[in-house]
Amino acid sequence: MAKLVINTSKSLGKIEPEVYGHFSEHLGRCIYEGLYVGEDSDIPNVNGMRSDVVEALKEIKVPVLRWPGGCFADEYHWKDGIGEKSTRKKMVNTHWGGVTEDNSFGTHEFMELCRQIGCKTYVNGNLGSGTVAEMSEWVEYMTFDGESPMANLRRSNGSEKAWKVDYFGVGNENWGCGGNMTPEYYANEYRRYQTYVRQYDPEKPIAKICCGANVDDYNWTDVVMKTCFNNTQKELHGHMDLISLHYYDLPEGWEPKVSATEFDEDVYYKTLNQAYFMDELVRRHTAIMDRYDPEGKVGLSVDEWGTWFAVEPGTNPGFLYQQNTVRDALVAGITLNIFNKHCDRVKLACIAQMVNVLQSVILTDGEKMLRTPTYHVFHMFRHHQGANLLESSISDCGNIGEGKCEVPALTESVSEKDGIVTATVNNLSMTDAAEVEIYLTSDDELKVIEASIVTSGDVHDHNTFEDPDKVVEKDFDGVSEIAANRYKVTLPAASVACIRFGKN
Ligand code: AHR
Repeated sequence: MAKLVINTSKSLGKIEPEVYGHFSEHLGRCIYEGLYVGEDSDIPNVNGMRSDVVEALKEIKVPVLRWPGGCFADEYHWKDGIGEKSTRKKMVNTHWGGVTEDNSFGTHEFMELCRQIGCKTYVNGNLGSGTVAEMSEWVEYMTFDGESPMANLRRSNGSEKAWKVDYFGVGNENWGCGGNMTPEYYANEYRRYQTYVRQYDPEKPIAKICCGANVDDYNWTDVVMKTCFNNTQKELHGHMDLISLHYYDLPEGWEPKVSATEFDEDVYYKTLNQAYFMDELVRRHTAIMDRYDPEGKVGLSVDEWGTWFAVEPGTNPGFLYQQNTVRDALVAGITLNIFNKHCDRVKLACIAQMVNVLQSVILTDGEKMLRTPTYHVFHMFRHHQGANLLESSISDCGNIGEGKCEVPALTESVSEKDGIVTATVNNLSMTDAAEVEIYLTSDDELKVIEASIVTSGDVHDHNTFEDPDKVVEKDFDGVSEIAANRYKVTLPAASVACIRFGKN
């Protein structure tokens, strides 16, 4: 039997809530319809934000939202998205389906959305096709409270008070869609652009995010860290507070042919193997960061991650709309456990994307809305937000999947907050249940106070608008006490479980 040992007296650091962040881009039906329906819509809304989606997002405690892209960010000109809506300039969304973007969702609407959700703001600036002045003025517009041209412009558009921009990304994927730059070129541009991301209010500092690597481009991380990180900075909020990493789980490569619901056993394990690769990526990028920043001042921001499959049949290929099965729930469980375990460096992460695009937590169809299996995993893992990571390990579980698809049969992470220990454990096997003995080292006797699970009879199961609750988080009764602080758990095949222990 596999054994999970939880060292309740060894805390390994705080899991930042922002690791459970989300990404929303002007792409397909993410912003328009998914989040924003406009003030005049028949779909219930508050100031244009659809109420059903906002309520669902509050339940998973979304800590931070990244916007407006993605590739869209480096061709977005923020002044087109302010002022009277009927006169806002229209543009072509060249990256995503060539559709007309009417700019009815802009800076004010993003800030309103974050206010309603109750989350932090992560605005991604345009370095690829925008000027330094444009970026600098956007920051002034959003965050300066005194008398200035941009602050006055904001006021004339109805927002008296400056907003808090918690994170500001200086370009997106500048090695690709954000300008096809070399790391040397980008690094110098970053140094220049970030200079003008002014900190107007010392009480509300902006954390600057430097564009990091595509997957395993370790040279990018090396060059950018060497050139941009100023190790003499004493405080947080210097030249560079975080560096990004983007990694998608693409079991069929960049031109997938079959939809998210069609996969065989090999592709299932390949998908989980790719999810598990996040661990190696984080370790290796961190090792490079350690060379320049041994004190760990710069956080890793994995601000695009998730599965990328073929679009649902009959939908616009440029809209990246895909279904979400139990396999996606496993990808989420594996990835979030990895982020927890690397809480010393991973300080922020955003699943791509929040609604209707790639590995979404919510799908909509007109006025209808459903929560995906991934949503339920985020709900289950919310207990880790702001908790202390505890030392834990699983032994005797072996590997499953063959060759390049091999993965550990079980993965886990454990945290503690307010005296409650939360363990999230994944059984990756497509076919076999797993028995696990859990041993907690605590001197106090800890009892199971709640347990829940996301699983279903078939890994292809997913939620549809006709059957929106086929795969949901359910109470889990597979845990039994075998002695003080020793429990036996039977995890069904392909399941993500959350078991919480407390003093009762
Ligand atoms: O999330 C979809 C796209 O993937 C983003 O726009 C881009 O940054 C990445 O390549």
